[in-house]
Amino acid sequence: MTLQVYEVGPRDGLQNERTPIGTPDKIALIDSLVKAGVRRMEATSFVSPRAVPQMADASDIIAATQRHQALQAHALIVNDKGWRRAIEAGTQSLAIVVVVSETLCRRNNRMEVNESIDTAHRLIVKSRDEGVFARVYLAPAWVCPYDGSVPADDVLRAAEKLAHADELAIADTVGHAHPAEVGTLFERLADVAPIERLAAHFHDTQGLGLANAYAAIQAGVRTLDSSIAGLGGCPFAPGAAGNLATEDLVLLAHKMGLQTGIDLDRLWDAVEIAGGLVGRDVGGRSAAWWRSSRNKGEAA
Ligand code: COA
Ligand code: ZN
Repeated sequence: MTLQVYEVGPRDGLQNERTPIGTPDKIALIDSLVKAGVRRMEATSFVSPRAVPQMADASDIIAATQRHQALQAHALIVNDKGWRRAIEAGTQSLAIVVVVSETLCRRNNRMEVNESIDTAHRLIVKSRDEGVFARVYLAPAWVCPYDGSVPADDVLRAAEKLAHADELAIADTVGHAHPAEVGTLFERLADVAPIERLAAHFHDTQGLGLANAYAAIQAGVRTLDSSIAGLGGCPFAPGAAGNLATEDLVLLAHKMGLQTGIDLDRLWDAVEIAGGLVGRDVGGRSAAWWRSSRNKGEAA
């Protein structure tokens, strides 16, 4: 059995970094991830460069990903302008953000929830006409940083309207979900869209990222988002800390007998590169163990 890892580090991970990171450095990180076996990645976003300066080089990043034939490189968008810029840059796979709670939707997308759903619907149809893969994020699926608990019915309603997307990624934007509610929401979503088209996106704010990933896997989800070295956070969602770390997710998957196609040893090279880019010690929960094993020459 396989578990598909959707790497979000170059977008979700880096978008929050205050110090500008050079395009060649971002490309070096992307290359190291591909070398480790990553085959799906959110490489950048076509959003307002004033809102997220770190993603201003989106077109150059998409151009660089095109050297990797085996890589499905996605770009995140929130509106029509982003869609046009992404298509002009030659993007083949998108990730369209739908925010299902009103306050965060206004702050992040500058829309009301219904408008966000309608926009996504329109962009899915336009993408299909262009032969472009359309993933849709439904966020925040459990807890909103402004409005509190998100009713499961709100997520299901959006999922029903957007079930024609190529993939629905259910996102715990601020990292406040817990495994029991993760399991129940995915069980209900499986009645709306085939489980193979559902993905789970967790942040590790409260240390429950891996537990939530495990709950999603137990519910049958086989595409999980994660960020190299646990980088991440959302500038528009206060309190959102790093994403579930890719190296932790891959370690969990391999221990459970799920194939990812990713070489953990090489993935650690990508962790070191990520740390170099952001200029601080980074890494997921397994980092301390890994570093000490590597120093002793024991790592597997
Ligand atoms: N790419 C580039 N510029 C964009 C853009 C896009 N996708 N969408 C809007 N803009 C520009 C507009 O052209 C305008 O520029 P101007 O003032 O020089 O004319 C400016 O952003 C503001 O536009 P405005 O119409 O006031 O806002 P909006 O309703 O179009 O939406 C957002 C602005 C939501 C697109 C913007 O705030 C944004 O990109 N937010 C980032 C969301 C994000 O990345 N969140 C994290 C990941 S979920
Ligand atoms: Zn995220």
